[in-house]
Amino acid sequence: MNKKIQIFFRIFIAVPFLVFSQTSQTNEPVITSTKTVLVVGGAGFIGSHVNKLLYQNGYETIVFDNLSRGNKDAVKYGKFIEGDLGDIQALKQVFENNNIDVVMHFAAFTDVGDSCLNPGAYYINNVANSVNLLQVMAQHSVKIFIFSSTAAIFGPPEEIPITENHPYHPISPYGRSKLMVEQILADFDIAHGIKYCSFRYFNAAGGDPDNILKNYKSKENNLIPLALRSLQEPQKCITIFGTDYSTPDGTGIRDYIHVYDLASAHILAMEKLLGGSTSSSYNLGNGKGYSVLEVIKAIEKITGQQINLIYGERRQGDVPYILASSEKAKNELGWEPQYSSLETMIEHAWKALN
Ligand code: UD1
Repeated sequence: MNKKIQIFFRIFIAVPFLVFSQTSQTNEPVITSTKTVLVVGGAGFIGSHVNKLLYQNGYETIVFDNLSRGNKDAVKYGKFIEGDLGDIQALKQVFENNNIDVVMHFAAFTDVGDSCLNPGAYYINNVANSVNLLQVMAQHSVKIFIFSSTAAIFGPPEEIPITENHPYHPISPYGRSKLMVEQILADFDIAHGIKYCSFRYFNAAGGDPDNILKNYKSKENNLIPLALRSLQEPQKCITIFGTDYSTPDGTGIRDYIHVYDLASAHILAMEKLLGGSTSSSYNLGNGKGYSVLEVIKAIEKITGQQINLIYGERRQGDVPYILASSEKAKNELGWEPQYSSLETMIEHAWKALN
């Protein structure tokens, strides 16, 4: 069955049938066989898109978010609980009051430069709070975990494209914090049987193809949203961080991946784990690199506006060139990106800002 038919079947046939078949025979509470997914950080950029796709695939969702980075308006589907992973009692309540089958964890700080200046905040929020979540999961026998990791765990590439076998040499506290959690996950698998999937995102970009979810990322420092937002404030400039890299135009090259394509990988991995698969890790990118200047030119072409540029120094913690190999995700999950063109990612991001 193709994906659209599967989604249609789940939403319009399977889910109503399960609900109806239970309610029509007894007066007991409605118990469907629909799985419930706790989306931690579901008010953020990637989490909110995954939450939407889970809903479209017929899953129940509960978004748990402290709104420090995310936005409540981004939670358009499922139940919302405002809470912090540092508050273990609040977390326990969530697991006690709901029958959670799967946890997806997006609630992390992600700014590489900031992590070099404030490492403690990254180790507390990204590492210690992830341990809180895993502990509470173990106590409540919840056994499936999907983790937002990052290409930053690899550090400067020793070979391109970066496969899952590439050595780990993160060069920022952000990258190290994510690698630590990946290592902790392996321990929780052995000790508590929590099966996990870690996704190493390359450069997440784009926006909701249906233009329902808007980009509420006011504090976000990534190239595409920053450059697009600069067009809304004519005085604003974009600094190009380094023009002397050993790349064709001297600027950094990245592998941009549409947020919808990231989201679809999460559903596939979760369903594989629900089917009894063992833990695994996947790199998610398109395997195609664009330099900072190429991204700027593409934005100018799509928006028809000119960006004010400053040619600046290299940024601490940046690598010249990264590119993902996502062959493993394609082969094992059957994942195929649908929005791999940079232009489409920029168009969707631009629409989501307006
Ligand atoms: C990094 C991480 C990525 C993580 C992301 C989250 C690495 C290799 N990648 O992406 O895993 O998910 O942070 O924040 O560590 N740039 C400018 N001017 C700007 C902003 C960016 O020139 O104002 C350049 C950067 O130097 C880089 C490219 O644009 O070459 C993309 O930068 P950015 O969007 O910040 O993402 P990364 O730092 O590559």
